[in-house]
Amino acid sequence: MRAVRYAQYGGPEVLSVEQVPIPLPGPTQVRIRVAATSVNAADVHVRSGSMRLLTGRKFPKGTGIDAVGEVEATGADVSSVSVGQRVWAVTGDGRAFGARLGSAAESALFEQAHVTAAPADVTDLGAAATVMPATMAVRTLREAARLLAGERVLVRGATGAVGSAVVQLANALGAHVIALTNAANTDLAQSLGASEVFDYATTRPADIRLVDVIVDTVGTGLMNWRRRLAPGGRMVTLAATPGALASVAAGRVISLAGGPRMSTFIAQPPNHCIAEAARHVEEKFIRPVIDSVYPFEQATAAHRAFESGGLRGRVLLTP
Ligand SMILES: NC(=O)c1ccc[n+]([C@@H]2O[C@H](COP(=O)([O-])OP(=O)(O)OC[C@H]3O[C@@H](n4cnc5c(N)ncnc54)[C@H](OP(=O)(O)O)[C@@H]3O)[C@@H](O)[C@H]2O)c1
Repeated sequence: MRAVRYAQYGGPEVLSVEQVPIPLPGPTQVRIRVAATSVNAADVHVRSGSMRLLTGRKFPKGTGIDAVGEVEATGADVSSVSVGQRVWAVTGDGRAFGARLGSAAESALFEQAHVTAAPADVTDLGAAATVMPATMAVRTLREAARLLAGERVLVRGATGAVGSAVVQLANALGAHVIALTNAANTDLAQSLGASEVFDYATTRPADIRLVDVIVDTVGTGLMNWRRRLAPGGRMVTLAATPGALASVAAGRVISLAGGPRMSTFIAQPPNHCIAEAARHVEEKFIRPVIDSVYPFEQATAAHRAFESGGLRGRVLLTP
């Protein structure tokens, strides 16, 4: 089968399509015939070598951490999905980052704990564009922030892949959504349900009235943005940069004395979050936002597009 792989860390040009053996599922694994996958920040960080302390020096490596497609084979202990079923999946295991084979391949392995039925009535591209963002929106708004109807929520990076799902779900949950985004994407932020839209290049924290929840997908200046939280406020950052993690740790110490709560998490979405995400996509609370679609052979161009920024939603890869 064909798979996108690389034999050294580096820029997008290290990616190429290779022939590899079809993988055999372990006892708790599901093999998915991949219809589409997406480019995530984690793929780019791992490929660049910036996470090499975690991802090691074993090559070649694969790329891709989510997928939509059909179940091709299952391990002996898999009971939650069956062969032929249309599913979607998000890699839940941090060790899988930088694995020998990612989901940008004709077939990919996932642990059954991270595979659920794909949303019905949504194309494969639409499902691939929403599987990670919608799952992260559920994890962030429902589990971490426990967003309530009527609350004010600020979304930093509101028209990126994850941000666009967060804006939509927050709106569907009855919150007042304030989007911080690239000015060129103001129309997109409004169409997703943001009531107020600010240009991130010119907006300072003090320009925004206090909010109950901040969802951050950027990772910078967190302690300054934290000051925009009302009493009882919560900030959740998805950006697992060293700076963001340090801010969250500092924020946790400060909140011991009372005040707003800061938190973060890294992938490993529980199965119920992936399943709830599918319901929200089926109910059209979260619609796919697709920036562009590339065949595996153009994986270099796809990673380049992701890294150059200015995107409106998801960059996808198809076999
Ligand atoms: N913790 C987890 O489990 C998890 C899971 C998935 C993703 N993530 C993280 O979530 C983050 C976002 O991922 P993504 O796939 O949504 O990336 P993305 O599509 O590139 O979105 C990031 C958005 O942030 C915008 N942005 C850049 N600087 C900004 C600023 N100063 N203020 C406000 N917005 C700004 C970008 O706009 P322009 O490009 O137009 O400048 C872009 O729209 C990444 O750090 C990723 O690693 C974490």
